[in-house]
Amino acid sequence: MRDMGQIRNIVILTGAGISAESGIDTFRSEGGLWEQHRVEDVATPEGFARDPDLVLRFYDMRRAAIQTKQPNPAHYALARLDNEWPGELLIVTQNVDDLHERAGAKRVLHMHGEHLTAWCPSCDIRSPWRAPLMDRPPCPVCQARTLRPDVVWFGEMPYRMGEIYAALRTCDLFVSIGTSGAVYPAAGFVQNAVELGAETLELNLERSQGSSMFHETRLGPASELVPQWTQEMLR
Ligand code: APR
Repeated sequence: MRDMGQIRNIVILTGAGISAESGIDTFRSEGGLWEQHRVEDVATPEGFARDPDLVLRFYDMRRAAIQTKQPNPAHYALARLDNEWPGELLIVTQNVDDLHERAGAKRVLHMHGEHLTAWCPSCDIRSPWRAPLMDRPPCPVCQARTLRPDVVWFGEMPYRMGEIYAALRTCDLFVSIGTSGAVYPAAGFVQNAVELGAETLELNLERSQGSSMFHETRLGPASELVPQWTQEMLR
């Protein structure tokens, strides 16, 4: 791995694994969300059109659940790195929870949306949202009763891809934390980073699908690996 002294710009990709130790279910682990629910039913526009009640109930339960969870040492370590790192830094998260922000991170981009906002397709405005959507509350802006979870479903375009690719183009280090590498475009970021000459590091409980593409992989729980790594970066 390149001398850490040469690293100035960092892009960090996080996935469900970073929030696992906060008690939030991952998707593809044994007993994970996608074993309990069919992706087609609860995470596609077609599923929503077919059975909106089922989909709204699913996200209402998850929105309520994350509000009872707390950031873990991995979120706090990244927040500290974000606050103290003098170069460019971007945390691109696939997670729809707000644990990075609650730990104090500022430079966070939610590429798959957020549980705590609701999107109104009628006026195309996103509003902060903590309550259920099941009872079809009116949009606070246009009053239409069309609010839906502000979560990117399969078949929909992830958010802010231009900003993400711009950050990848200028990063010296790309770090992937707690993601299985099963879902594109996020799973392809490591290849972009390698092709553009960045160092790449994976921190995960087990090898991800794209693990061989990383210059270095460290295996273990995020609550241990992430604080160790951020400590090295801030030394
Ligand atoms: N520490 C580190 N890694 C962990 C931990 C932990 N404590 N617990 C689990 N992991 C790892 C798993 O080994 C797995 O590789 O986190 C990864 C979680 O993978 P997924 O459940 O597939 O979650 P993610 O990669 O974030 O999924 C991507 O898929 O369904 C979509 O939109 C959803 O954003 C999500 C996307």
